[in-house]
Amino acid sequence: MTTSSATEVSDASELRHQLVEQLRANNHIRSAAVERAFRTVPRHAFAPEVPLLSTYADDIVAIRHSDDGTITSSISAPWLQADMLEAARIQPGHRVLEIGSGGYNAALIAELVGPTGYVTTLDIDPVVTQRAARFLPETGYSQVSVVTADAEHLPSEVVPEGGFDAIVVTVDTWDLPWLNALAEGGRLVAPLRLHGYRWAIGFTKGKDALHSDEPLVVCGFVAMQGAGAWNPNRHTVHGTGVHLSWEDGTPLSVDQLAPALTGQPTVTRTGITVGGQEPFDLLTLYLAGALPGFCRLAVDPDGDHQVLNPPPQHWPAAAIVRGASLARLAHERIADGDDGKGRYEFVVHGYGDHGHLVAREMAQHVEIWQRNHRGARCPFISARPAVGRAPAGPAHEPHVFAKKHTRITVDWPIMPARTARATVLEGSDAR
Ligand SMILES: C[S@@+](CC[C@H](N)C(=O)[O-])C[C@H]1O[C@@H](n2cnc3c(N)ncnc32)[C@H](O)[C@@H]1O
Repeated sequence: MTTSSATEVSDASELRHQLVEQLRANNHIRSAAVERAFRTVPRHAFAPEVPLLSTYADDIVAIRHSDDGTITSSISAPWLQADMLEAARIQPGHRVLEIGSGGYNAALIAELVGPTGYVTTLDIDPVVTQRAARFLPETGYSQVSVVTADAEHLPSEVVPEGGFDAIVVTVDTWDLPWLNALAEGGRLVAPLRLHGYRWAIGFTKGKDALHSDEPLVVCGFVAMQGAGAWNPNRHTVHGTGVHLSWEDGTPLSVDQLAPALTGQPTVTRTGITVGGQEPFDLLTLYLAGALPGFCRLAVDPDGDHQVLNPPPQHWPAAAIVRGASLARLAHERIADGDDGKGRYEFVVHGYGDHGHLVAREMAQHVEIWQRNHRGARCPFISARPAVGRAPAGPAHEPHVFAKKHTRITVDWPIMPARTARATVLEGSDAR
């Protein structure tokens, strides 16, 4: 074991128990087993180079960076580890695979499976597996097996007969190539990219498909490397500083959009509002599945172009392209709100000759979401093996995301009616 002073050990254990109280209070830890694991495993021992206090903050601990400074390996944030372990429903005796390693989360899993189960943790980066192979025995978890491999091609000798009882994926993944490595009835929890939106999703394996059955959690993870690295399919509209990404679906040509984006947009009002702190990630997921030509629109933060007013902030906007016209979702502050955080109305900006029609199409789908699906915290996701080749061309099947290994379907439950009606305003006086 790494030598630490008695004060350091007692500080660490106090910080660990404080963290557990916080995770329980925020409902990330919900079971006695996950609580016990978090109280037991010394998180700081998996990043001895990092100050003690930082290892017990409810945040990621960066471990490895690429040359441009991007984090390529981290110990994930405790709240997300707790949510994902709860979703994995790991029991004593289970055989569990962790994809994306470091050691800490594998040790938590080792606590959950106990002496009758086993844990394999796998990473593409040999520096990460060397660290895990050192820290796990130092902290008393020498039974965890550490493997260096690209998760896109799981070595067959790693997979137990009948498959794993649970697979916990701790790296941002665009696809789920692990269906065959999971036992029927087993759980798979993964941060899955759907059109660039990232959701931690817990699935149970049925006969030959995965089915989700709990609310999705918005999350962020370091990017997948190797053969399964995702392609953002990012295209820049020449001379505008506007970038459009098609992570799912067929990328369309974009340069014909340049004149449209430098013109004045129409503004289609939806009458549908959202609180300043209220997430609307499920709306963007809904639009991504519902609308052909869906993409995400971002602008150069420091570019001179400033063609879009206001530009999307913090994260890319939902957008659709139709030939030389485009629509994008925005929201406008309409009231201060009782909580001081403001109230916003969803509006759709249309660009180009048919921009108002494209914007109306998007606004109508915002209405459908409002009327039928808003409040559905839990759309149901299933992942089936992709059979044969994906259809050629821009054929669109609503709410189906065609991946390399799987076809992901999002089913939206119908919720009690809410109504709204979109109006379109043309030109600059609309804003
Ligand atoms: C967030 S870290 C894992 C955190 C870890 N599970 C923990 O204890 O908190 C994600 C890891 O995924 C690894 N990774 C990236 N692409 C991979 C791939 N294709 N196969 C296996 N591991 C990969 C990275 O090297 C990185 O160490």
